Amino acid sequence: MISWDESMTTGLPEIDKQHKLLIEKFNEFSDVLAAMGKAGSREAAGAVLDFLQFYALWHFEQEEKYMEKYNCPTARENKKDHAYFREVFGQFYYQWQHTDMNLELVQKTYDELQAWIVNHIMKVDVALYDCVSRD
Ligand SMILES: [Fe+2]
Ligand SMILES: [Fe+2]
Repeated sequence: MISWDESMTTGLPEIDKQHKLLIEKFNEFSDVLAAMGKAGSREAAGAVLDFLQFYALWHFEQEEKYMEKYNCPTARENKKDHAYFREVFGQFYYQWQHTDMNLELVQKTYDELQAWIVNHIMKVDVALYDCVSRD
């Protein structure tokens, strides 16, 4: 489980709200995975993944626009990181949909992506804070 805290603030309420929802959905997926095998759990996990696939990509677009708008020095790194996530999550999502993914592998990939999110927000996204307040 991960949680949003003040150290993750970007100074933009809209972006912070998106991060909170992303984190919430990641946690929800963890819960569904823990209940895997029970009735309806695969469908529930699928629904969370569908949401994440759509929402994460949409969030990246919003954030990249803000980083450009505020001339953020981490804008390029942010885009590069997002491309990485898009690739890894995209593959994961595809495999999930089209193969009988081994649960351990799902959990492992998921844990990695969850760690990526926290690390990315705290190292790259938070740079927005200084750019926004300098503006
Ligand atoms: Fe980002
Ligand atoms: Fe972000």
